[in-house]
Amino acid sequence: MKIIAGNWKMNGSRAALVEMQDALANIETENTVILCVPFVFIAASNNSVAIGAQDVSVHDHGAFTGEISANMLAGIGAKYVIVGHSERRMYHGETNEIVKQKASMALSAGLTPIICVGETMEERNSGKTMEIIELGVRESVPSNGGDVIVAYEPRWAIGAGITPSDEDIAAAHSLIAESLTKMGRGGTPILYGASVKGSNAKQIMSIPHVDGVLVGGASLKPDDFIPIITATK
Ligand code: 13P
Repeated sequence: MKIIAGNWKMNGSRAALVEMQDALANIETENTVILCVPFVFIAASNNSVAIGAQDVSVHDHGAFTGEISANMLAGIGAKYVIVGHSERRMYHGETNEIVKQKASMALSAGLTPIICVGETMEERNSGKTMEIIELGVRESVPSNGGDVIVAYEPRWAIGAGITPSDEDIAAAHSLIAESLTKMGRGGTPILYGASVKGSNAKQIMSIPHVDGVLVGGASLKPDDFIPIITATK
């Protein structure tokens, strides 16, 4: 059984969510399917698949205009929240420390955080991939609280139509698994994300320690997303 999570980013509509959920209602799979949609569509979900958000505040409540708390998300039916996505780190200056605070807030509200780590092209080119990944896990994942999911997203491959080699994915995931075990979080699911599509999903999910995928562009339309969900049973 794998975890197939879609990240709609700032795309979609209420109608698109209804259409996706109707399409997913008819497929047979033992995989866990999660859709992380913009905040404003969460309440439109019919809960036929698990719904998640894409960010959460580090604060519990108060004078933080524009922020959304973990309890608010839980209150409208979200079960998951992505934290530390590459685009949040890049455009909103989120550090490992902030990501960990967000993950902790999610856990305290009963949400499962999907904590993203991954290297930039610059870090990759300077041979720092493993260091960045290890530090990302050690500094972004809370050492206690409920269950979490970790996603390895090589930042240079997101939306680029290219993926690392199977060997590189295997090395990254095995390092993440090892780091999580050292933190007492052995068995935490580890997703791969960046340029996953119907044609590569099965192969990627056959790599050791790849417990599922986090899908961007190919999660927006049923015709693209369903082949990924059904790539493995
Ligand atoms: P793409 O699948 O569009 O490369 O995006 C990956 C991603 O960022 C998922 O969170």
